[in-house]
Amino acid sequence: MASATIDTSALRHNLSLVRARAQGSRVMAVVKANAYGHGLVPVARALAEADAFAVARVEEGVALRRAGIAQPIVVLEGVFDADQRDAAAEFRFDLVVHSAEQIDLLRGAAPASFKVWLKIDTGMNRLGFEAGDAAAARAALGALDAVRGPVHSFTHLASADEPGSTATAAQLARFEAATRGLPGERSIANSAALLNVPAARADWVRPGLLLYGASPMRGAVGADHGLRPAMTLRSQVIAVKQIAPGARVGYGGAWTARRATTLAIAAIGYGDGYPRSVGTDAAVRLRGRRLPLAGRVSMDMLAIDATDLEPVVRVGEPVVLWGPGLPVEVVAATAGAIPYELLCGISQRVAVEGG
Ligand SMILES: Cc1ncc(COP(=O)(O)O)c(C=O)c1O
Repeated sequence: MASATIDTSALRHNLSLVRARAQGSRVMAVVKANAYGHGLVPVARALAEADAFAVARVEEGVALRRAGIAQPIVVLEGVFDADQRDAAAEFRFDLVVHSAEQIDLLRGAAPASFKVWLKIDTGMNRLGFEAGDAAAARAALGALDAVRGPVHSFTHLASADEPGSTATAAQLARFEAATRGLPGERSIANSAALLNVPAARADWVRPGLLLYGASPMRGAVGADHGLRPAMTLRSQVIAVKQIAPGARVGYGGAWTARRATTLAIAAIGYGDGYPRSVGTDAAVRLRGRRLPLAGRVSMDMLAIDATDLEPVVRVGEPVVLWGPGLPVEVVAATAGAIPYELLCGISQRVAVEGG
């Protein structure tokens, strides 16, 4: 019932906008987590103009290769055992290397197996070598037969969505100090950095969210940056009910009708990935109008106050939960979440179409 329709022309539009913002940089399109819920392989096919794809896990890259995707594929978290390393070599993946254990693993690989990105932890304190240890890690990698070409340099920004952040400036300075004058390519910028931190563009940018048409900036939506949402999440009305003033709706009776009310019950709920945490403040789109929810979201359904629709709402009418005209960023904000969570959180029950 619930479906997510993917607009491939929006994906391509968003990629061209990224290119215009980062002229001179190559684009590593981030398609991990099932392309943020949009469908890994269809999105990679739609983004055929990307210079490379980035995934988090080896299995995601294998799925891309098996579907015939030929561009470079970068594994952002690298490999964790010999099987993954061998699969990465077989499928010609580029590897991020962020730990001494990963350097050790690469010793067992055939000569010239991998293009390697050395991940330097410049302040995120998650993955990567401390800036002070980067030179030694680089030397160790450079001495390995398995590594092809120079060692490339990579870091990730923690606060790129805060314009003017001093933490970002400090991260850039550490990265610059750790890589100055060294051969190899550099990559720093995610979506927020693409928007806010021109100095982070470097040789390769790594947009995820922007490609899907959403904004990483609090209070902003993709359209503010000229982007188009790629996903429309929709379902349909499966029941219509008239209730009297004073009647309470849904679990806990959390919503009370103040007037004679027409409820439209739509077949989508948190079992599909629509967040229950929107409470009773969210809106959906029906006939192009924003209508409020009535009561809590349940697993398979939600209730809409459709009293103001004329003529009266009918079973079978489509309902849009997010997409053009109702940005996922707005729904996420209502839920106390970020658009990433909602897009990635679409459940297996939702048919992803198009793309
Ligand atoms: C290392 C790395 N680079 C780039 C991205 C893309 O981030 P965004 O979707 O904010 O552009 C991610 C995603 O979390 C990431 O982990």
